[in-house]
Amino acid sequence: MSFVPGLEQVVVAETEVSFVDGENGRLVYRGEWAKDLSEGHSFEEVAYLLWNGHLPSAAELEVSQAVWSQQRELPQEIQAVLDAIPHETGMMSVLRTAVSALESQAYAYPPTVEQAAAITMKLPTIIAYRYHRLKGTTPVASRSDLGHTANYLYMLRGVEPSPVHVRALEAYLILLMEHGMNSSTFAARVIASTRSDIVSSLTGAIGALKGPLHGGAPSHVMNMLRGIGTKDQTEAWIRNKLESDGRLMGFGHRVYKTTDPRAVALRELALRLSASDPWLELAVHVEEVAIRLLEEYKPGKKLYTNVEFYAAAVMNAIEFEEELFTPTFAVTRTVGWSAHIIEAAQGRLIYPDAAYIGKLPAAAAGATTP
Ligand code: CMC
Repeated sequence: MSFVPGLEQVVVAETEVSFVDGENGRLVYRGEWAKDLSEGHSFEEVAYLLWNGHLPSAAELEVSQAVWSQQRELPQEIQAVLDAIPHETGMMSVLRTAVSALESQAYAYPPTVEQAAAITMKLPTIIAYRYHRLKGTTPVASRSDLGHTANYLYMLRGVEPSPVHVRALEAYLILLMEHGMNSSTFAARVIASTRSDIVSSLTGAIGALKGPLHGGAPSHVMNMLRGIGTKDQTEAWIRNKLESDGRLMGFGHRVYKTTDPRAVALRELALRLSASDPWLELAVHVEEVAIRLLEEYKPGKKLYTNVEFYAAAVMNAIEFEEELFTPTFAVTRTVGWSAHIIEAAQGRLIYPDAAYIGKLPAAAAGATTP
């Protein structure tokens, strides 16, 4: 048996949920181009597609929206958990703890679309509730007349959101909703394969997404842009970073060997939203220089822009604070995770192997088996 570090290119599941075409930079959700979905559909329609395998009819959408919008409120005990977490705890840790605390008979094995929807609907409420508590403002109750995306913005801001911000956030959420066998989805599938419950699988996935090599990257992208500061500093800053063997956040991807299609779509979106934003102008310049220098310092590695680079720009353009970047990623990826959890919960237990390279007890040394 050969050891493959990071399980690169190891096929660990068969799935009907999505197809990530790394060579050609294309992303398909259940037979539909993710980019097309992000341009003409709502969060609820694409969630329905990922959970049920087809886009909803008008009647199916109406029923789903009506049922789902009733699931947004947080039980009292979850509010109490949120209030008990120290203020300095980061939002991703808060989200992980709050989702974990949802565990009850209602979410018992086997995972279902109804369970997935009920949890997905609560994530924005958890974030908005905590956001207001930290700011010392009163949490805003959800509005069932608003769609999932508009309601998230409404609960954060307390005012009717602008249609431009709603559309931009909706496109962002759809583009990040699902992405094949990434680390957090794999974590979720491993837990689901043990026949554990959906809450446990989602809790594990949120923990994996939090890491800076995965969903935690966009706030590091902002740090990098702040560190660079101005266009004329770009080349020197990046050279210095690469010469000290540092990583450029928002670049490189395990699967894409060309530009991440989500980065292309988010760049277009960010430029439509705020072409004259000085941060965006700087980001476009940094991208150009970074790709040239990555080829110089890491020849042949095919390191291009990934989704996180322009995710930061879009989040910035809709005036989201950095603490909301990765939690907002989790708000939408919960849909993809749960589609995989439902799939994996019926499959074989995931239980790979490891090559032992440690010592054997003295008596066993020389024996062929420990
Ligand atoms: N900057 C500089 N060098 C890089 C980068 C980068 N961003 N990414 C990879 N490399 C180099 C790396 O140093 C290594 O070079 P060498 O062979 O000379 O040692 C080579 O490329 C291969 O790196 P790797 O770590 O084996 O590649 P990976 O497939 O395990 O890494 C990655 C994928 C996303 C973790 C990595 O590209 C990275 O750390 N990027 C920065 C963090 C980031 O933007 N993460 C968000 C990823 S997109 C969201 C998601 O789907 O998770």
